[in-house]
Amino acid sequence: MTSEGPTVSRVLDEATEFLSSRRPRTPRLDAELLLAYVLGQSRTQLYTRAFEQLPRNQVEKFQQLLKRRGQGAPVAYLVGWKEFYGRRFVVTPDVLIPRPETEILVEESLRCVERSGLARPRLLDCCTGSGCVAVTLALEVAESQVRACDLCPKALEVAAENLVAHNLHRRIKLYQGDLLEALPPHTQRFDLIVSNPPYVATDVGPRPEEGVVRYEPNLALFGGRDGCDLLRRLADGATRWLNPGGWMVLEMAPFQIEGMEAYLQERGFQHTSIVPDLSGLPRVLSGRWES
Ligand SMILES: C[S@@+](CC[C@H](N)C(=O)[O-])C[C@H]1O[C@@H](n2cnc3c(N)ncnc32)[C@H](O)[C@@H]1O
Repeated sequence: MTSEGPTVSRVLDEATEFLSSRRPRTPRLDAELLLAYVLGQSRTQLYTRAFEQLPRNQVEKFQQLLKRRGQGAPVAYLVGWKEFYGRRFVVTPDVLIPRPETEILVEESLRCVERSGLARPRLLDCCTGSGCVAVTLALEVAESQVRACDLCPKALEVAAENLVAHNLHRRIKLYQGDLLEALPPHTQRFDLIVSNPPYVATDVGPRPEEGVVRYEPNLALFGGRDGCDLLRRLADGATRWLNPGGWMVLEMAPFQIEGMEAYLQERGFQHTSIVPDLSGLPRVLSGRWES
């Protein structure tokens, strides 16, 4: 290793200062994640090497990434992974970056599975993207049979990579197509259908941050004028694919949840629950379909 470059500690301090003015939310964390990626090490290891000098070529690679971060590119796309429910998932710009609120969707799904009391529940993750929900459910419910689908073939390639990374490629089947129409006709019914569909409204409610719209796939974001187009289609189609007593668990925006709860109830779903996200806002809706 050449030793003429600045130390890890100095590179991190300067990067944090640079990002503070441009991306002020988590400048230190972002700088650490990018440098750890360039060095092929963990963030903790950066601190054990704080006073080592870095070779110029690594500093230059880091600075290129830092510049892109400064322009708004998400850290997850720059480093190629994101943590979800304590596990690492490959992400590319073809998939939505997994969000903490989607961990609430997983937790509510696990509660519903437990309430169903089935030994080998059949679970479907519709709009799977990176596959983070499907993989997490398969790992948390050891005997489950999991299927997942998405409209976007490139997103399914990322999901497939994550299935392999978590050694689930023999246990989870992936299907490509429009919502539940992706399922082959003779597929057995499910005990739970979970979905985090695109639910950003084009005409009402809060707009996502500019960086989200610019960098993340718009197919993963927008759900029509009120954002509920796919949520309603899922509720309409689910009864064809759920076993009696099966659960539907959906993530959505807080302003959509009351209307969607009524919509589910009109279609025969009972025992509906609304679960708040980490900010205390209603985010996840579940309901049990009684035939
Ligand atoms: C909000 S992302 C959710 C991704 C992942 N489940 C997560 O929670 O991080 C929505 C996903 O729905 C997919 N999608 C959009 N329209 C669809 C449709 N009509 N049928 C199936 N999937 C669709 C997108 O490709 C995207 O992967």
